Amino acid sequence: MTIRHFATRVVRKIGRTLMGVGVNLQAANDNRNDERSFFQELTEICKQHGFVAVVPDSKGLLKALFDTADIKLITKVLRTIDDPVRFNGSRIYWDYFNARSLLSYASWDIFTAHCMSRYAQEHATSPSVLPLIERTGLSHGVLSEERTNALLEEYLACERISYEPMEYSDYFMFNPWIFGDCKKEFNQFAVYRASSDRIKALIKEVLDEMQPMLEADMGHGFSVIGVKPFELCPLHTSIGPHMWHKDSHPAGCKKLMIYLSETSAESGTTEYEQYDGITYTVGGRGGQWVLFSNSRVKHRGIPPESKNRPIIEVTFMPALITDTTIVDNGINSGYPWFPMPDDDVVTGYFSAQETVMRMLQRSMQLALENGNTGNVSDGIDNMIKRY
Ligand SMILES: [Fe+2]
Repeated sequence: MTIRHFATRVVRKIGRTLMGVGVNLQAANDNRNDERSFFQELTEICKQHGFVAVVPDSKGLLKALFDTADIKLITKVLRTIDDPVRFNGSRIYWDYFNARSLLSYASWDIFTAHCMSRYAQEHATSPSVLPLIERTGLSHGVLSEERTNALLEEYLACERISYEPMEYSDYFMFNPWIFGDCKKEFNQFAVYRASSDRIKALIKEVLDEMQPMLEADMGHGFSVIGVKPFELCPLHTSIGPHMWHKDSHPAGCKKLMIYLSETSAESGTTEYEQYDGITYTVGGRGGQWVLFSNSRVKHRGIPPESKNRPIIEVTFMPALITDTTIVDNGINSGYPWFPMPDDDVVTGYFSAQETVMRMLQRSMQLALENGNTGNVSDGIDNMIKRY
């Protein structure tokens, strides 16, 4: 190697190192700016809800907020932060969302295992025989024409609504991307409807009839955590359910899709890729239904060629005891971040309410620590251990 080559290499190496330092400094600056603007917004939100504390930064403010143990106040403040339109440019918003997702997936996986084990014991099923959904990914069937017509009639009477980012219940996961073009397209590829009491009652009747079969196919009890009546439009947008995808719910989640009109390549349908690699395509008269593991089975909607294709989507989460009560948690609701069994028996530290608040604290702490889990692994009860 000549001296000239050696010198060139050294200069390049120094250049790369300096560039690396530059990138790190830029990231540190971005984080500081993000923290400053988040602190300002958070201070404003707290003030709006009547809470003021003299503290130097977001961590101090959130610690003071959680110290109040005022669940209503904490919920209102955290709920205001979960606004995709207002905060989608903030790293803290995304880190907080991602941290909750990780804790959520872990909690639901363990809870699902518990529900499956409870179901297997109660129904004396052999542990070596997997339930149908675990073997194939889905089950399907068809409702009577009478039921289908009744559902369709009520469906058409339900009020049309638009897909709005803040339409979800407290402590529920929501779609964090509903802003800008994404929101626009969500309102283009489908028409959404509010669930009337009448349609909820009809769906409950269907579920009550199907309950033993649904439980056996899933291998666990279930509760209804969402219902969405909507119709897919004859339109191909750049995003949407017509792309092959898996949903982002916890692995134990299931969806029941009830097709209210004829399904075919022309009138629109859905393709599901079963675990054996074979694609199941829904087809036939109105009333077809598919129960499937929506985050583990790849699927895509085939938009209709001319007329909208109406459907009712019911979302289930595993439960120790089945409850077919139909609850509509809002058009942008996903699922409860954390399993919340009834709290009649457990109170105090491990009550559902306290557990959920602790999970939210930990998620927010992770977000403020740039996702550095090392900083939150000890003193887990103390949200901000350095204060
Ligand atoms: Fe999907």
